[in-house]
Amino acid sequence: LFMSDLSEFNVLEQQIKDTLNLEHVIITPGNSDEHALVKQELGKTAVDYLHSILVSNQTVAVTGGTSMTAVAEMMRPSNHAVNCLFVPARGGLGERVENQANTICAEMAKKANGDYRLLYVPDPLSEDTYQSIIEEPSVKEILHNIRQANVVVHGIGDALTMAKRRKASEEVLHKIQSGNAVSEAFGYYFDDTGEVIHKVRTVGMQLEDLSKIKSVIAVAGGKSKAKAIHSYFKQGKSSVLITDEAAAKELIKGF
Ligand code: G3H
Repeated sequence: LFMSDLSEFNVLEQQIKDTLNLEHVIITPGNSDEHALVKQELGKTAVDYLHSILVSNQTVAVTGGTSMTAVAEMMRPSNHAVNCLFVPARGGLGERVENQANTICAEMAKKANGDYRLLYVPDPLSEDTYQSIIEEPSVKEILHNIRQANVVVHGIGDALTMAKRRKASEEVLHKIQSGNAVSEAFGYYFDDTGEVIHKVRTVGMQLEDLSKIKSVIAVAGGKSKAKAIHSYFKQGKSSVLITDEAAAKELIKGF
Protein backbone atom coordinates (compact mmCIF):
# COMPACT_ATOMS: atom_id res chain seq x y z
CA LEU A 1 0.00 0.00 0.00
CA PHE A 2 1.41 3.41 -0.98
CA MET A 3 1.16 6.50 1.21
CA SER A 4 -0.76 8.21 -1.56
CA ASP A 5 -3.46 5.57 -1.24
CA LEU A 6 -4.11 6.39 2.36
CA SER A 7 -6.34 9.21 3.44
CA GLU A 8 -4.97 11.88 5.76
CA PHE A 9 -6.69 10.21 8.72
CA ASN A 10 -5.25 6.81 7.90
CA VAL A 11 -1.76 8.29 7.98
CA LEU A 12 -2.49 9.98 11.31
CA GLU A 13 -3.98 6.79 12.74
CA GLN A 14 -0.91 4.82 11.74
CA GLN A 15 1.46 7.41 13.23
CA ILE A 16 -0.37 7.42 16.55
CA LYS A 17 -0.65 3.65 16.59
CA ASP A 18 3.09 3.22 16.02
CA THR A 19 4.22 5.92 18.45
CA LEU A 20 1.90 4.99 21.30
CA ASN A 21 2.29 1.29 20.54
CA LEU A 22 -1.43 0.61 20.15
CA GLU A 23 -3.36 -2.15 18.47
CA HIS A 24 -5.89 0.12 16.88
CA VAL A 25 -6.60 3.85 16.50
CA ILE A 26 -9.71 5.43 15.02
CA ILE A 27 -9.99 9.17 14.35
CA THR A 28 -13.30 10.97 13.79
CA PRO A 29 -13.46 14.43 12.16
CA GLY A 30 -13.57 17.69 14.16
CA ASN A 31 -12.84 18.86 17.70
CA SER A 32 -15.06 17.61 20.52
CA ASP A 33 -13.98 20.55 22.73
CA GLU A 34 -16.00 22.78 20.42
CA HIS A 35 -18.98 20.78 19.18
CA ALA A 36 -21.24 18.36 21.00
CA LEU A 37 -21.91 16.61 17.70
CA VAL A 38 -18.23 15.65 17.42
CA LYS A 39 -18.40 13.97 20.84
CA GLN A 40 -21.53 12.14 19.74
CA GLU A 41 -19.69 10.92 16.65
CA LEU A 42 -16.86 9.76 18.92
CA GLY A 43 -19.47 7.84 20.90
CA LYS A 44 -20.95 6.30 17.78
CA THR A 45 -17.51 5.24 16.53
CA ALA A 46 -16.79 3.65 19.92
CA VAL A 47 -20.08 1.71 19.72
CA ASP A 48 -19.26 0.52 16.18
CA TYR A 49 -15.84 -0.64 17.35
CA LEU A 50 -17.28 -2.30 20.44
CA HIS A 51 -19.76 -4.21 18.29
CA SER A 52 -16.99 -5.34 15.98
CA ILE A 53 -15.20 -7.16 18.82
CA LEU A 54 -18.00 -8.09 21.25
CA VAL A 55 -19.19 -11.69 21.48
CA SER A 56 -22.38 -13.04 23.13
CA ASN A 57 -22.35 -13.49 26.92
CA GLN A 58 -19.34 -11.22 27.44
CA THR A 59 -18.91 -8.67 30.23
CA VAL A 60 -18.21 -5.02 29.43
CA ALA A 61 -16.87 -2.70 32.16
CA VAL A 62 -17.36 1.04 31.67
CA THR A 63 -16.17 4.21 33.37
CA GLY A 64 -17.87 7.57 33.78
CA GLY A 65 -17.44 10.96 32.12
CA THR A 66 -19.02 12.92 29.29
CA SER A 67 -17.25 10.92 26.55
CA MET A 68 -18.64 7.71 28.02
CA THR A 69 -22.05 9.39 28.26
CA ALA A 70 -21.81 9.92 24.49
CA VAL A 71 -20.98 6.23 24.05
CA ALA A 72 -24.06 5.29 26.10
CA GLU A 73 -26.25 7.70 24.11
CA MET A 74 -25.19 6.08 20.84
CA MET A 75 -25.42 2.48 22.11
CA ARG A 76 -27.67 0.10 20.19
CA PRO A 77 -28.30 -3.65 20.21
CA SER A 78 -25.82 -5.82 18.37
CA ASN A 79 -27.13 -8.50 16.04
CA HIS A 80 -24.41 -10.96 16.94
CA ALA A 81 -23.42 -10.18 20.56
CA VAL A 82 -26.43 -10.95 22.74
CA ASN A 83 -26.84 -11.42 26.46
CA CYS A 84 -23.90 -9.22 27.44
CA LEU A 85 -23.43 -7.94 30.98
CA PHE A 86 -22.47 -4.32 31.68
CA VAL A 87 -20.72 -3.32 34.90
CA PRO A 88 -19.15 -0.10 36.18
CA ALA A 89 -15.34 -0.44 36.21
CA ARG A 90 -14.94 1.24 39.60
CA GLY A 91 -16.98 2.78 42.39
CA GLY A 92 -17.86 6.47 42.67
CA LEU A 93 -15.17 9.02 41.87
CA GLY A 94 -17.06 12.17 42.80
CA GLU A 95 -18.83 12.74 39.49
CA ARG A 96 -22.32 14.17 39.07
CA VAL A 97 -24.88 11.40 38.67
CA GLU A 98 -25.23 11.80 34.88
CA ASN A 99 -21.47 11.31 34.50
CA GLN A 100 -21.19 8.36 36.85
CA ALA A 101 -20.15 4.92 35.66
CA ASN A 102 -23.29 3.37 37.23
CA THR A 103 -25.61 5.62 35.20
CA ILE A 104 -23.70 5.03 31.97
CA CYS A 105 -23.56 1.30 32.61
CA ALA A 106 -27.33 1.00 33.12
CA GLU A 107 -28.09 3.03 30.00
CA MET A 108 -25.67 1.06 27.86
CA ALA A 109 -27.16 -2.23 29.03
CA LYS A 110 -30.69 -1.05 28.33
CA LYS A 111 -29.83 0.10 24.83
CA ALA A 112 -27.83 -3.04 24.07
CA ASN A 113 -30.69 -5.24 25.38
CA GLY A 114 -28.18 -6.56 27.86
CA ASP A 115 -28.07 -6.93 31.62
CA TYR A 116 -26.26 -4.85 34.22
CA ARG A 117 -25.00 -4.86 37.81
CA LEU A 118 -24.25 -1.69 39.74
CA LEU A 119 -21.76 -0.81 42.45
CA TYR A 120 -23.25 1.10 45.36
CA VAL A 121 -20.32 2.49 47.29
CA PRO A 122 -19.91 5.92 48.82
CA ASP A 123 -17.01 8.04 47.68
CA PRO A 124 -14.43 8.87 48.76
CA LEU A 125 -13.84 5.78 50.90
CA SER A 126 -11.77 5.74 54.06
CA GLU A 127 -9.30 2.85 54.44
CA ASP A 128 -11.51 1.25 57.13
CA THR A 129 -14.69 1.51 55.07
CA TYR A 130 -12.83 0.20 52.03
CA GLN A 131 -11.67 -2.88 53.92
CA SER A 132 -15.13 -3.68 55.26
CA ILE A 133 -17.05 -2.86 52.08
CA ILE A 134 -15.04 -5.30 49.97
CA GLU A 135 -16.18 -8.03 52.37
CA GLU A 136 -19.89 -7.33 51.73
CA PRO A 137 -21.34 -10.31 49.80
CA SER A 138 -23.21 -8.09 47.31
CA VAL A 139 -20.08 -6.03 46.64
CA LYS A 140 -17.95 -9.19 46.39
CA GLU A 141 -20.28 -10.58 43.75
CA ILE A 142 -20.06 -7.57 41.48
CA LEU A 143 -16.32 -7.23 42.04
CA HIS A 144 -16.06 -10.77 40.74
CA ASN A 145 -18.01 -9.76 37.60
CA ILE A 146 -15.78 -6.71 37.13
CA ARG A 147 -12.60 -8.76 37.29
CA GLN A 148 -14.02 -11.15 34.72
CA ALA A 149 -14.66 -8.34 32.23
CA ASN A 150 -13.74 -9.15 28.65
CA VAL A 151 -13.84 -5.56 27.45
CA VAL A 152 -13.27 -2.22 29.20
CA VAL A 153 -14.37 1.09 27.70
CA HIS A 154 -13.09 4.21 29.44
CA GLY A 155 -12.48 7.95 29.15
CA ILE A 156 -9.24 9.87 29.65
CA GLY A 157 -9.32 13.33 31.20
CA ASP A 158 -6.98 16.23 31.84
CA ALA A 159 -5.75 15.76 35.43
CA LEU A 160 -6.57 19.14 36.92
CA THR A 161 -9.87 19.47 35.06
CA MET A 162 -10.97 16.11 36.43
CA ALA A 163 -9.82 16.78 40.00
CA LYS A 164 -11.72 20.07 40.06
CA ARG A 165 -14.83 18.61 38.44
CA ARG A 166 -14.85 15.90 41.09
CA LYS A 167 -14.39 18.45 43.85
CA ALA A 168 -11.14 16.95 45.10
CA SER A 169 -9.87 18.27 48.45
CA GLU A 170 -7.21 20.98 48.64
CA GLU A 171 -4.76 18.32 49.72
CA VAL A 172 -5.45 16.16 46.67
CA LEU A 173 -5.37 19.17 44.33
CA HIS A 174 -1.99 20.08 45.75
CA LYS A 175 -0.70 16.54 45.33
CA ILE A 176 -1.85 16.52 41.71
CA GLN A 177 -0.33 19.92 40.94
CA SER A 178 2.96 19.44 42.73
CA GLY A 179 3.34 15.99 41.19
CA ASN A 180 2.71 17.48 37.72
CA ALA A 181 -0.14 15.10 36.97
CA VAL A 182 -1.27 15.44 33.37
CA SER A 183 -3.91 12.80 32.80
CA GLU A 184 -6.63 10.92 34.62
CA ALA A 185 -8.37 7.63 33.88
CA PHE A 186 -10.24 5.23 36.23
CA GLY A 187 -9.56 7.61 39.13
CA TYR A 188 -5.79 7.30 38.62
CA TYR A 189 -3.76 10.45 37.95
CA PHE A 190 -0.59 10.16 35.84
CA ASP A 191 2.33 12.48 35.09
CA ASP A 192 3.83 12.83 31.61
CA THR A 193 5.99 9.75 32.07
CA GLY A 194 2.95 7.65 32.93
CA GLU A 195 3.81 7.47 36.64
CA VAL A 196 0.82 7.30 39.04
CA ILE A 197 0.72 10.52 41.09
CA HIS A 198 -2.56 9.89 42.88
CA LYS A 199 -5.18 7.18 43.02
CA VAL A 200 -8.76 7.64 44.24
CA ARG A 201 -9.50 4.96 46.81
CA THR A 202 -12.52 3.06 45.59
CA VAL A 203 -13.51 -0.52 44.86
CA GLY A 204 -13.50 -2.20 41.47
CA MET A 205 -10.94 -2.46 38.76
CA GLN A 206 -7.40 -1.53 39.67
CA LEU A 207 -4.77 -0.54 37.15
CA GLU A 208 -2.99 -3.91 37.45
CA ASP A 209 -6.21 -5.71 36.48
CA LEU A 210 -6.22 -4.06 33.05
CA SER A 211 -3.22 -6.07 31.85
CA LYS A 212 -5.32 -9.23 31.99
CA ILE A 213 -8.12 -7.81 29.85
CA LYS A 214 -7.84 -8.33 26.13
CA SER A 215 -9.70 -5.25 24.90
CA VAL A 216 -9.23 -1.98 26.75
CA ILE A 217 -10.69 0.84 24.71
CA ALA A 218 -10.01 4.51 25.47
CA VAL A 219 -12.48 7.10 24.18
CA ALA A 220 -11.05 10.63 24.37
CA GLY A 221 -11.09 13.56 21.98
CA GLY A 222 -10.65 17.34 21.85
CA LYS A 223 -7.51 19.41 21.34
CA SER A 224 -7.37 20.07 25.11
CA LYS A 225 -6.87 16.36 25.81
CA ALA A 226 -3.81 15.73 23.61
CA LYS A 227 -1.31 15.96 26.47
CA ALA A 228 -3.51 13.81 28.69
CA ILE A 229 -3.85 11.11 26.04
CA HIS A 230 -0.08 11.09 25.51
CA SER A 231 0.55 10.82 29.27
CA TYR A 232 -2.02 8.07 29.84
CA PHE A 233 -0.58 5.84 27.13
CA LYS A 234 2.91 6.09 28.61
CA GLN A 235 1.94 3.28 30.96
CA GLY A 236 0.29 1.46 28.09
CA LYS A 237 -2.60 -0.43 29.69
CA SER A 238 -5.10 0.21 26.90
CA SER A 239 -4.82 -1.15 23.39
CA VAL A 240 -7.33 0.91 21.42
CA LEU A 241 -7.84 4.67 21.12
CA ILE A 242 -10.95 6.28 19.69
CA THR A 243 -10.20 9.97 19.30
CA ASP A 244 -10.93 12.98 17.13
CA GLU A 245 -9.04 14.96 14.52
CA ALA A 246 -8.16 17.89 16.82
CA ALA A 247 -6.68 15.67 19.55
CA ALA A 248 -4.85 13.55 16.96
CA LYS A 249 -3.27 16.54 15.19
CA GLU A 250 -2.20 18.10 18.48
CA LEU A 251 -0.92 14.73 19.73
CA ILE A 252 1.48 14.14 16.83
CA LYS A 253 3.03 17.60 17.32
CA GLY A 254 4.48 16.24 20.54
CA PHE A 255 5.98 13.09 18.99
O1 G3H B 1 -11.66 9.47 33.40
C1 G3H B 1 -11.74 10.30 32.51
C2 G3H B 1 -12.78 11.23 32.54
O2 G3H B 1 -13.90 10.57 32.97
C3 G3H B 1 -13.01 11.91 31.22
O3 G3H B 1 -14.16 12.65 31.32
O4 G3H B 1 -15.09 12.30 29.07
O5 G3H B 1 -15.99 14.04 30.60
O6 G3H B 1 -13.75 14.32 29.57
P1 G3H B 1 -14.78 13.35 30.05
